[in-house]
Amino acid sequence: MALLELRQLRRSFGSLAAVDGVTLDVEASRITGLIGPNGAGKTTLFNLVAGALAPDAGEIFFAGQRITGEPPERIFHRGLARTFQVPRPFAQMTVLENLMLVPAAQAGERFWRNWLGGTRIAAEERRAREQAMAVLELCALAGKAAELAGQLSGGQHKLLELARVLMIEPRLILLDEPAAGVNPALLETLVERIVRLNRERGISFLVIEHNMDLVMSVCAPIVVMMGGRVVTQGDAASIRSDRRVLDAYLGEVPGAPAPAQEAAA
Ligand SMILES: Nc1ncnc2c1ncn2[C@@H]1O[C@H](COP(=O)(O)OP(=O)(O)OP(=O)(O)O)[C@@H](O)[C@H]1O
Ligand SMILES: [Mg+2]
Repeated sequence: MALLELRQLRRSFGSLAAVDGVTLDVEASRITGLIGPNGAGKTTLFNLVAGALAPDAGEIFFAGQRITGEPPERIFHRGLARTFQVPRPFAQMTVLENLMLVPAAQAGERFWRNWLGGTRIAAEERRAREQAMAVLELCALAGKAAELAGQLSGGQHKLLELARVLMIEPRLILLDEPAAGVNPALLETLVERIVRLNRERGISFLVIEHNMDLVMSVCAPIVVMMGGRVVTQGDAASIRSDRRVLDAYLGEVPGAPAPAQEAAA
């Protein structure tokens, strides 16, 4: 059984079928890549899986349980977390405070606050703070804990996005273009952390990315979407030589043999 199972998922905007019957298995313990040209439906697929959008049809199963139509918070606390293509931290709060908001969102927290006195809450908060600092350490952001989130660079925002979802100890993280706008040095850190989280903690990833070097070196398998559909999937070598992928990316896939007509030109 796959960790995430999508069955005939559909979602239209007016007459546009953004996700047009996607059936896909995302296996546990892998870093699966999701590529495809602009407008292919990748982010819409994430929105459906994360509960931000309701599908018009189809089913979603996570760890064997049907989650179709569940609200985003419920799905998040099942251990299925997503980051945003455009990060949206609370800019006026510190990096540490942004992380400490995450467990506070858990259901029942206010209930317990009413029943337990101040001491227990203080202990809870201390634990949340320690966890947040450990997560920041892991994401190479410990030195920024006291800075306002709004002051971070684009790349640090991506790391903060990753840190935010790590607060719930997720089983599957959906990353939407983690490399976009990240400088090369920070990108290396980000990629290294993702690989470590996968290898050492067994966290699975589904990664939307236009940076082909990253996808080809880190992701296996790689799933290709076009026009709302999954057109193929496979390892880097098979994707590199896939005709449809070459056409969609105008032969710019690194390491790919040049398409015949271009080689002749
Ligand atoms: N909320 C919305 N309302 C109307 N149309 C939308 C909405 N969200 C997405 N679309 C359209 O659905 C199609 C798929 O968009 P989506 O954002 O999923 O693509 P994508 O594969 O993530 O592209 P990119 O690589 O540019 O991020 C596009 O044509 C887009 O304009
Ligand atoms: Mg997108």
